[in-house]
Amino acid sequence: MAKKAKIFPIYVLNGPNLNLLGEREPEIYGRTTLADIGRMAAACAEDHGLNVEFRQSNHEGALVDWLQEARSGACGVVLNAGALTHTSVALYDACKALTVPLIEVHLSNPHAREPFRHHSFISPAAKGVICGLGVQGYLLAIDALAALLKESTK
Ligand code: DQA
Repeated sequence: MAKKAKIFPIYVLNGPNLNLLGEREPEIYGRTTLADIGRMAAACAEDHGLNVEFRQSNHEGALVDWLQEARSGACGVVLNAGALTHTSVALYDACKALTVPLIEVHLSNPHAREPFRHHSFISPAAKGVICGLGVQGYLLAIDALAALLKESTK
């Protein structure tokens, strides 16, 4: 019998302060918690026959380590780097080193906010960027990665 190729999970990585979702500035970020998003992301991926590895860290180095891990352990990456989006050359380098597609996600629309949020170090390394659509953005990113994966395995 032919062996089925192993499909790696989609890494959904979240940066600083996103552990406070639901409590933190709900008028901007909504009332949905990160755990809720994790459950919705898992269900969305399952609809595509995929799994997610859902993580959050307040530490830049942990996110760099996970992006490096994704090079050989993920089929794609969804990244909401939080405030590190606007500051981190280390995350830019780690994203550039990815060998799988990356979708950058933000719950809010940083372009409609303070000027310091208008620049992203992640965007130049991303296949696509989704912002301003709240939790839906994570699910759209998973849909997009599933479509890209299907296309690449045709
Ligand atoms: C965010 C936008 C960032 O500017 C901010 O620092 C965050 C959250 C978002 O999801 O809208 O922490 O990435």
